[in-house]
Amino acid sequence: MRTLAIETSCDETSAALLEIDNGKVKLLKNTVATSLAIHKKTGGIVPEVAAREQIKYIIPVIEDTVKDLNDIDSIAVTVGPGLVGSLLVGVETAKTLSFIFNKPIIPVNHLIGHIYANWIDQGSKIEFPALGLVVSGGHTDLVLLEDHGKIKWLGGTRDDAAGEAFDKIGRLLGLPYPGGPAIEKQALKGNPEKLRLPRPMIDSNDHDFSFSGLKAAVLREVQQFEQLRNETIHDISASVQEAVIDVLVKKTIDAAQKYKVKSILLGGGVAANQKLRDELASKSSVPLFIPEKSLCTDNAAMIGAASFFNSEEAVWQRIEAKPELYFD
Ligand code: KG4
Ligand code: ZN
Repeated sequence: MRTLAIETSCDETSAALLEIDNGKVKLLKNTVATSLAIHKKTGGIVPEVAAREQIKYIIPVIEDTVKDLNDIDSIAVTVGPGLVGSLLVGVETAKTLSFIFNKPIIPVNHLIGHIYANWIDQGSKIEFPALGLVVSGGHTDLVLLEDHGKIKWLGGTRDDAAGEAFDKIGRLLGLPYPGGPAIEKQALKGNPEKLRLPRPMIDSNDHDFSFSGLKAAVLREVQQFEQLRNETIHDISASVQEAVIDVLVKKTIDAAQKYKVKSILLGGGVAANQKLRDELASKSSVPLFIPEKSLCTDNAAMIGAASFFNSEEAVWQRIEAKPELYFD
């Protein structure tokens, strides 16, 4: 079975061509166009600007990914959660192609997509029950995967997502958008011991998170200086990165032990962080799966992978954008 997957939930415009053969997911092509350069100028994403760029990119990205749409069996598309204008670009394009080429559509939840990036090339090694940690710009969620299609939400952030905390703190430090990779780079030169930041909810007896206090603590720190020296930026970056990672790792390992899972699956843009990858790998006593870095941030390949296991084919008339969609 061959699928064309489309992802436009935030600022990326992506299409991918995938195949499933004997339960093994093979990625044939993954094309990602981003309007990041434009968002860097505004220090973040302006939703209408992102959607307008996506209207320009969507057809070239699909043309670059698949030569002949008659050769595919289905179209997978992200229906939510995400920015409504952005989602509409992908969803309406998928519906139009479905009508013209007479191919069924498979609607995919973006968050489940992040977890299923782990099935690309390495899926046959994943055992259930598995624990999923989705850490992105909009979400920080722990979920229990009992089987394909049987996903239970365990907990999530009560305020800012981990990536959002990086992005907001990055702005406080005068770093370029997005803050996550910028802070990771600065942290390489810093001392995480210089500044002791809070580890919010690290010992709470649940699976929830809170990252907004971290931003407030950094703001207090930054306000002491008239101008930030490079060395201070390095040290604050290292401390922030360590605080976020400490919380994510502790709560993931706790949940993995409680539910006696056989695998841990990491996903979402923040999963591209090397220190998080290394720390989780060193603390996990069960096999840990992390997508390659380019498949951690938003892409259509993960949407195609999820579509093979989780969703049912539908006629185009039944598909609509669902900005508020969550784990159900
Ligand atoms: O999954 P994603 O591409 O989009 C959403 O669905 O939100 O995640 C984007 C988020 C941003 O907040 C960005 O700062 C963060 O992922 N991020 C990182 C890294 N790369 C991206 N955070 C920490 N370290 C990184 N290397
Ligand atoms: Zn995402």
